[in-house]
Amino acid sequence: MRKFLIAGAAALVSLSTLFPISAAAQFAKAEDAVKYRQSAFSLMGNHLGRLAAMAKGSVAFDAAAAQESARLVQTLSKLPWEGFVPGSDGGNAKLKADPWKEADEFAKLKTKMLGEADKLPEAAANLESLKKQVGATGSTCKGCHEKFRKL
Ligand code: HEC
Repeated sequence: MRKFLIAGAAALVSLSTLFPISAAAQFAKAEDAVKYRQSAFSLMGNHLGRLAAMAKGSVAFDAAAAQESARLVQTLSKLPWEGFVPGSDGGNAKLKADPWKEADEFAKLKTKMLGEADKLPEAAANLESLKKQVGATGSTCKGCHEKFRKL
């Protein structure tokens, strides 16, 4: 039993040298965290933009394409947040306020957005409900950007 435990511990030690596992180890550098969140936002913005173009009528409504983009927005909406690690406000970061210093406010705005993004796939089945839900989702993006994003 003891031998087994020691072997297990040894295996863990060698594993952790290969893949450093610690609270902040998802990103080696602050700029990696910035890049991660901006990439997620950028993809999400692209797909919400496609939905907005259909909602505005500048692109013909296509239910299958709309639902695909809506599902992507829903999935991508879960990603940027991990990238807001404390101290990642330098380099290319475009922050108006530090999310980690106003964590409650930031979390509230994020939760609002996640709630609206969750309704997008169903709403994308027809143009009328898509219009409404693109508007509702877009206003949650705007709500956070006004406070936290530097343009
Ligand atoms: C809870 C806050 C919050 C919400 C909600 C939010 N954003 Fe952002 N967004 C930010 C912040 C902060 C930045 C700036 C990040 C940085 O530069 O470090 C940003 C940046 C962006 C960028 C620029 C990325 C780049 O390449 O620099 C895009 C595009 C974007 N958001 C799209 C969206 C869309 C679309 C939504 C809604 C579906 C959304 N955001 C919702 C906080 C938010």
